[in-house]
Amino acid sequence: MTDTSTTPHIVLGLETSCDETAAAVVRLEDGRATVLSSVVGSQIAAHAPFGGVVPEIAARAHVESIDAIAERALADAELTYGDLTGVAATAGPGLVGGVMVGLSFGKAVSLARGLPLVAVNHLEGHAVSARLGAEIAYPFLLLLVSGGHCQLLEVAGVGACRRLGSTIDDAAGEAFDKIAKTLGLSYPGGPALEKLAEGGDPARYALPRMLLGRKDCDFSFSGLKTAAARIAEGLTTDDERRDLAATVQAAIASQLAERTDRAMKAYALEHEGHDLRFVVAGGVAANGAVRARLTETAAARGFSFHAPPLAYCTDNAAMIALAGAERLVLGLSDPLDAVARPRWPLDEGAAAASPTHLAGRKGAKA
Ligand code: KG4
Ligand code: ZN
Repeated sequence: MTDTSTTPHIVLGLETSCDETAAAVVRLEDGRATVLSSVVGSQIAAHAPFGGVVPEIAARAHVESIDAIAERALADAELTYGDLTGVAATAGPGLVGGVMVGLSFGKAVSLARGLPLVAVNHLEGHAVSARLGAEIAYPFLLLLVSGGHCQLLEVAGVGACRRLGSTIDDAAGEAFDKIAKTLGLSYPGGPALEKLAEGGDPARYALPRMLLGRKDCDFSFSGLKTAAARIAEGLTTDDERRDLAATVQAAIASQLAERTDRAMKAYALEHEGHDLRFVVAGGVAANGAVRARLTETAAARGFSFHAPPLAYCTDNAAMIALAGAERLVLGLSDPLDAVARPRWPLDEGAAAASPTHLAGRKGAKA
């Protein structure tokens, strides 16, 4: 293992796994990350007429814009390709046509400039994203909640994850998106539902509390989704819609907090006498009600609470650049024939052992 911790790494990150074309430059020195630039080109307008992400449209849009977005990331950082020490591109999981665009672009930069390439797992990007805002030491307990994923993991170090629980049906962001649709909100539904819920009564409607009696740390959102859809059908006023949005948001936050509390209890026993750190990451970590519930849960269990700055909760390339830089510090890089992977679990052993436990594979990012 090469220890180059005193040499700064300046890495170009590329993210094209779903509907954001993103590029960023991150500098990592002595364990401290600085985002020099972060550009996110959203394709929401192109997909909006279809109510979700269309893979072919996404891949084409990535091809059309990746070049200019990477140039802009370098210009914003006031750097050129010659200043970089490495290039990191998302290699999965995600919509494979899009993943191939960013990964191929990264390979071209690597080849043309003689730079090491890191083929990054998108989920590892989310796992390190809170470190873009603060220095957070390993190990930590991670709740990864996005449009395609919902899982609790023990993160012991770079690439060393052990899964403690995951969803048995939908991902949390997917539940937000689908319920938002039944309330007539546009994609992506999570932020729109949070806005609608403002000032609403979170106790107005009765929704099922899923998996309450179970002793594991798994999640389930499909019953909640069905019950909310049934209630939504009978609503007539804006006040009712606002209250249902608030009730749904509280129910999702509550389930995330309950399952996290259970994982914290087990994690604390295994790490007795050590600092206990909890990180929430992924698009759903941008939700205020979710953050508030998890902050309380962490405090009650003696964990420090960490979440990425809001801009790095949803998909971005700064987290990919940092995940790449952390690997380069350890002397890890990938060959130019690295492949794009539509599926790529963080804990491959656990995923193989219980294939019925999904990462939320029906989600937009699946
Ligand atoms: O991390 P992300 O950008 O992409 C994935 O890797 O999945 O997460 C996107 C998901 C979407 O489902 C979106 O609705 C949800 O995160 N999301 C939110 C909020 N912002 C984004 N859900 C609830 N409240 C929010 N403020
Ligand atoms: Zn993501």
